[in-house]
Amino acid sequence: MTKSGKTGFLALIIGIALVFAVIVLPLTGCDDGNNGNGNNGNGNNGNGNNGNDNGNSGSGNNGNGNNGGTDQTDNPPVDIMSLPPMKTQFSSYFMIGNIFNPGDVSGSSVTNTRLTRHYNILTAENNMKPSYIAPSQGSYNFTTADSMVNAARASGFKVVGHTLLWHSQNANWMTSSSCTPANMKTYITAVVDHFKGKIYSWDVLNEVFPDGVSASADWKTAMRSDNPWFANQGYSFVYEGFLAARLADPAAILYYNDYNLDNSGKAMMVRNMVKAVNDKYLASSDKPVGESAGRLLIEGIGMQSHHNTNVQASSIRATLNLFKPLGVKISISELDVLGQSYQDFAKAGHGPNKQGSTTVTAQGLQTQARLYGEYFKLFIEFKDIIERVSFWGITDNQSWRSAGLPLLFDSSGKSKPAYNKVIEALGQ
Ligand code: XIL
Repeated sequence: MTKSGKTGFLALIIGIALVFAVIVLPLTGCDDGNNGNGNNGNGNNGNGNNGNDNGNSGSGNNGNGNNGGTDQTDNPPVDIMSLPPMKTQFSSYFMIGNIFNPGDVSGSSVTNTRLTRHYNILTAENNMKPSYIAPSQGSYNFTTADSMVNAARASGFKVVGHTLLWHSQNANWMTSSSCTPANMKTYITAVVDHFKGKIYSWDVLNEVFPDGVSASADWKTAMRSDNPWFANQGYSFVYEGFLAARLADPAAILYYNDYNLDNSGKAMMVRNMVKAVNDKYLASSDKPVGESAGRLLIEGIGMQSHHNTNVQASSIRATLNLFKPLGVKISISELDVLGQSYQDFAKAGHGPNKQGSTTVTAQGLQTQARLYGEYFKLFIEFKDIIERVSFWGITDNQSWRSAGLPLLFDSSGKSKPAYNKVIEALGQ
């Protein structure tokens, strides 16, 4: 059978299974768990050109399966629990991830069936951030994070550790008057060691570069002034922080994570920093015993991808091409796409259940769908370097940017045009 023949056959089987499931099996309403209760949401600014709307037409069949080449944008909404697992559909390309919260686990397992059905790697939305784990010096509270990590692993997920160093949701003791390299290393060593062997990859450093930075800037001096470690000790904390994480758990893949990396200036800063840190590490003897000679220190770049309708796939392509020669893995680590421009979204604001005040139009949802489709075609094209695509939420109402209706599923768990376009990308 040809690849498309196989795909068509598969779609038929899945279609029959779906009809069976819809007719015979009762649809289970499922508990989504709680959404985050963190503080300090950071607005990720839109940038780039105006998005062009193009209403898509075409009559797809049921919104399930992979109907290669057919425009599925107008497929009727389907309940998320009736759709084929995304993790399986994308398994030959990359892992499909999402976020989780304490309400998504119970006892020793993940009880949110939407998560277990579609995703194979989870990131705690908030509970592994320093403000949760170590609110005061010398006192670590791992209880909630432990239950989440252990449940996720027991339910077959990989776990992303998010995040060790961030100017937001930080543990203030690390950065107040006693903001010293020693405090930073103490924290990283304690936390990474605590979870040793359980974390697939760590976001060691989050969001160190400012918006609007020029591609010709020097990464060593261009960091955000509100990054407390940079403000206190300059750029050298980056190497020291990553090294502490490597020594504490050599098996974990260490990531740098940032947003708006479709922006060429920020992308260049990240590229330059990762290259410099890795070059320094390769030339050093700062390695755990037995580590292979060519192993990098920063082995991954997380492109958060909190996008909006002005973010073109071509800008993301340029960044992926810029990062490729670094030889690091890429994760699309926090994907959501507002159904409008960032400027329009900013008027309604952040936070779960702001969708009551949404100004997203039906046309906006079509543009969002088109972009999701274009992004996924691109991700598939770069499958050799992309190891994971994680969404930052399942349904719009749970999103930290809920007023922008940024996810694949609506508040009732039904597929949106964006979902259909993501699946359609599989057939291209
Ligand atoms: C967000 C959470 O989704 C919110 O619940 C919280 O209030 C603020 O943080 N970049 C990141 C994530 O790396 O940790 C942020 O998560 C979103 C932006």
